[in-house]
Formats: sequence, structure tokens, C-alpha cells
Amino acid sequence: MSSIIVQGRTSLKGSVKIQGSKNAVLPMMAAAILIDGVCRLDNCPHISDVEDMAGLLRQAGCVVTREDNALIIDATRIKEDVRFDESVARIRSSVILLGAMLGRCGRADLCYPGGCIIGRRPVDFHTMALERLGVTFSECSGRLCAEASKLQGNSVYFPFPSVGATQNALLAAVRAHGVTRLVGCAREPEITALCLFLKRAGAKIGGVGTGELTIEGGDSLKGIRYDVEADRIVAGTYLLAVAGAGGEAFLKKAPVSQMNSVMEVCRQMGASVEAEEEGIHIRAKHSPRPVSMLETQVYPGFPTDLQSPVMTVLTKAGGPSRLRETIFTNRFHTAGELRKMGARIHCSQRDAWIRGNDRLTGALVEARELRGGAALVMAGIMAEGRTCITGCRYIARGYENIVRDFRCLGAVIEERPGKADHL
Ligand code: EPZ
Repeated sequence: MSSIIVQGRTSLKGSVKIQGSKNAVLPMMAAAILIDGVCRLDNCPHISDVEDMAGLLRQAGCVVTREDNALIIDATRIKEDVRFDESVARIRSSVILLGAMLGRCGRADLCYPGGCIIGRRPVDFHTMALERLGVTFSECSGRLCAEASKLQGNSVYFPFPSVGATQNALLAAVRAHGVTRLVGCAREPEITALCLFLKRAGAKIGGVGTGELTIEGGDSLKGIRYDVEADRIVAGTYLLAVAGAGGEAFLKKAPVSQMNSVMEVCRQMGASVEAEEEGIHIRAKHSPRPVSMLETQVYPGFPTDLQSPVMTVLTKAGGPSRLRETIFTNRFHTAGELRKMGARIHCSQRDAWIRGNDRLTGALVEARELRGGAALVMAGIMAEGRTCITGCRYIARGYENIVRDFRCLGAVIEERPGKADHL
């Protein structure tokens, strides 16, 4: 198990190319099960969540290979009766195998999905949507066992715009007979990306990019080649790192049109942020300004996945700020680690009050989830002295190589193998 060592209080300067999007590629990998042929995903990030999903696809009979940055999935021979093993519990996106397997084989058998520990993560909207399409779930020792002799198009109303549940319903609906209307869908760019992927493979989907999707299902899907978009959350992490540490950077290929809320928050904090044709340019000369209230919201609002990174920046702001987490019930773990570095943050269930004006000091801290882990690396760059971040396997779930990327931006940072228990 490795750790990351950061020598802090450096401002950042340089340019970094943004990797492909984790949350866009994982559902596409599941969707490849619906394709009776080969699909090639270019710009697929080298992250452990992708490896875990590839392992699950292999269990289902897919042949999954890598060619540099491309991932190639041949789903010609699917094992219809696959009983996925407990590695399903390593990632959240594994739950989308439900819709994919039901769409291809009419049955699915997997244990409950895992993912970052950030609060309650039930699957009731997923099962409700699939049941509306004719799926029956049976109780089998804590597993999700589902069957549908015939998937039938129907109307589905989501009580909350869940990203994963929308993806699951979409995958089943493209192979269901007749028309499905999904109402109250998530509008995150990763949903749009999945729709575009499926459309290119031959699916008929209307309303792409809106909260109401209409799917004319039934047709079989053909193999395709698809270029995965850049990761808006990775780009947002690096944008916020510059806002916190100060300096100037260019984020090549950052998906500008998906990042308005984050760019706007960086501007509110005093950074100059410009969208350019090839990416985003940010310059932060002064300490960040506080924000009186920032709420995480579904897209296009400020993303919950950047709540820990922005909290880190606000520890240095010239006054108090308040953050409200509205998507997940328990996503303030990072505050505890930031306190070890000298931050003064008070949290209730939904709100975090950040005192600001803090001089962070290097410490031994532990990443316990993906985005919180990245935020601790940012904190190390902003802090006086040396910081050691353990729990790097969480960061590797979604960041291809955070050490390489921050080095491109001039940070003094390295990864050390072995377990670190001191600075
Ligand atoms: C996706 O998770 C992302 N994960 C998350 O990113 C992201 O934080 C989240 O969407 C919100 O944007 C992937 O794409 C793999 P949800 P997902 O279903 O699909 C409640 C990261 O760091 N809910 O939109 O699991 C749920 O409890 C990860 O990359 C139900 O109540 O999120 C939560 O409060 C972390 N019942 C809210 O909806 C359900 O059946 C949003 O969850 C489903 C969800």
C-alpha cells in the first residue's frame, strides 16, 4: 500500500492534460454487454475502477483488452447464467450491470454494489424502474436476483434524479419492447454521454440532455468506436487546487461546457478563469475569498464530488464560509483530516462552517474515499511543511496519476511504496 508525500506551500504553475472520465466510461463498459459484437472506448482512463469493471465483464464472458488508451470489449459470447462474485461490491457502477444483463439475457444475479462511503446509497430507484419495465426481483440471500421473460416499455417516474438509476433504466429500456418514458431523469453529462454512446450503437433515444428521455426499444445494437470525454471532476479538482494554492495553470481538454458552476465558484473566490478552445486557463494571485453559502446540487449545479476539494480551498479564505451537502447524507469525512492539519471546520449533518484564515500545517492524514483523498493531496500542497497521505488506493479509483499531474503543475510530490506511519 503506497502513500503520497507532499512538500507544501508551493504555488502551482504549468499545464496538465485531463484524463478520460471515470463516471462516463463505467456505464459505457456495462452498456457494451448489450452489444453483440466489439466496441472500442478510446481515451479510457487507467484507473482501478475501470480494472474492476473489466474484471466483472470478463466474468460475464466478455473479452476485454487494452490497446494504450483504448479499451476493447468483445461481448459476442455472454454467459447468460453468470453469478457475479463479491468483487461487485468494490465499485458502485457494478449496479448498472443489472440493466445491461437484463437487456441482453433477461436475467441478472449480483450482490449489492459498493463505492465510496459517503452516506446512504440505496438501490430502490433502480429496482423500481426495472420493475416498471417488467423485471421481477427475488430474494436470494442478500443478492440482487432479477428476471424478465419480456422487457416491456413503460413510463417511469424517478422521485429524485439519480444518476445510476437513470443509467440502469436506460440500458434495460433500449432492449425493451415498445416505448419507455423516463421522467425526472438525472441530467449529468455522464447520462448524455451514455445516450450518445447508445445512439451511435443504434438505439433510439429522444430528449437527450433533458430530464425526460423517450426510448424506442427493441433493436439490437451494433459494435462501435467511441471517444470518452474528459473528466469534469478531475479537471475541477485541479482548478480548485490552483484556486487554493495560488498560481497559474492550463487544463488541456477540460470539458469547459460541463464546468460552468465550478468555474463560477473559482471566480467568486477571486481567481481569474477563462474558457479557451482547448481547455481552461486559471490564474489565482491572492488568497481565496470566502463564500457565504455554497450548496452542492444536481447538474448543472455545483457537484457533490467537488465538495471536499472546495472545502479545502476555503480553509485558506480570508473569512468564514459555509458549505451545504444536499446530495449525500455523510460526505464530510475530509473535515476531520483537515482539522489534523490545523483547519477549523465545524460540521452538522448537512452543513460545514469553515472559519477561514487557516495556515494548514503538514500532517499524516488518511484518504478514506476518492474525492476526499484528492482533497487531502490539495491540502498538502497548500500546507506548510510535509504531508503524508495514506489510503492512496481510494485516489487510484478515479485519478489516473494524481502525483504525475500535480508534478506537471509544479508541486513537490511523490508516491512512496509501503505503509507510511510517520512523516
Ligand atoms: C453517481 O453516483 C456518481 N458515481 C457519484 O460519483 C456522484 O457523486 C453521484 O452520481 C451524484 O452526482 C458514478 O457515476 C459511478 P445517485 P450514484 O444515484 O449514481 C439517492 C465519484 O466520486 N438514491 O445520483 O450512486 C442516493 O442515496 C462518485 O466519482 C436513492 O435514494 O448517485 C443519493 O443521496 C461518488 N435511491 C442521491 O440519490 C437510489 O436507488 C444521488 O445518488 C439511488 C440513489
